[in-house]
Amino acid sequence: MHPTIEWKDGQVVMIDQRRLPLEEIYLELHDEDRVAEAIETMVIRGAPAIGIAAAYGFALGVIRLKPGADIAAEVDRIQARLWETRPTARNLFWALERMRRVFETGRGLPLARLQERLLAEAMAIDREDEDICRRIGAHGAVLIPDGATVLTHCNAGGLATAGYGTAIGVIRAAWEAGKKIRVLADETRPFLQGARLTAWELGRLGVPYQVITDNAAGWLIHTGEVQIAVVGADRIARNGDAANKIGTYSVAVLCHENDIPFTVAAPISTFDFSLAHGGLIPIEERPAAEVREINGRLIVPQDAAVRNPAFDVTPARYITAIITERGVARPPYESSLAPWRD
Ligand code: MRU
Repeated sequence: MHPTIEWKDGQVVMIDQRRLPLEEIYLELHDEDRVAEAIETMVIRGAPAIGIAAAYGFALGVIRLKPGADIAAEVDRIQARLWETRPTARNLFWALERMRRVFETGRGLPLARLQERLLAEAMAIDREDEDICRRIGAHGAVLIPDGATVLTHCNAGGLATAGYGTAIGVIRAAWEAGKKIRVLADETRPFLQGARLTAWELGRLGVPYQVITDNAAGWLIHTGEVQIAVVGADRIARNGDAANKIGTYSVAVLCHENDIPFTVAAPISTFDFSLAHGGLIPIEERPAAEVREINGRLIVPQDAAVRNPAFDVTPARYITAIITERGVARPPYESSLAPWRD
């Protein structure tokens, strides 16, 4: 399987997630603007993958600078362009801040040396993610009962990371450990990450799954078909409130009502310890066309007004456990997460 994103011959190569599962097309991006556009238009999406793309975009922007350029001003411009692409995923800002630190410590170096260091850092962010996800998978697999039906929402798999996945990483680690599990994948309107991407990934992994409409989740949870829910996160506040794809909150409330564990799998880079609670997490509003159309075809009256919030925040009280690369945190999160602050 081709990686979600990679550095190849001086450019950033990524699979176009808008075209999956019908077409597997790889885009070659030559400058930071193209990378920023790819993040905005969701060629690449998923919090950790957005962070990796931004890191490569940062490096690419500096690599394109010519000797004699005003490097500090150019770096500000490159960083600002990538910074504004999507507001919710903490990993975007975490990766850009990490790249910025490398730039700051390398100020005064010859441009070629600085470029080398920035590319090495972006590659490290990419490489480390795979290892982090494998550790999340190992910690989380223990929570999945043998024989369970696992519900997941959106896509928190290889496509949303460097290649292994967070929530799907937990599912695949349980599967690889020999547990006989089955997955229910919410289709995840409007971008259909579950129907298109999670289904594509699980099919390739050989994990049995069924795609369900988002509005079928409640009934299937209520009738006892689901034993545990595992989802990813875009940003987690220090009290454990977790932002994830719109619809996650509904799944969490339904799990709570029906006494089913609702778990969140995410790397520490998704945590925003500066935020006391999830009400402070910026929620992205995406273009109306994503709701108005399916595959470019209008499905509402021409003049219909729509809302398209891309994320919601699940209050910590509905979250049974948060699975990270350092272990599994349980409520109360304010204290269980505290040791993982930098
Ligand atoms: O809008 P998206 O597709 O970027 O949203 C993705 C999600 O909500 C994922 O669940 C989250 O980023 C975790 S990805 C490991």
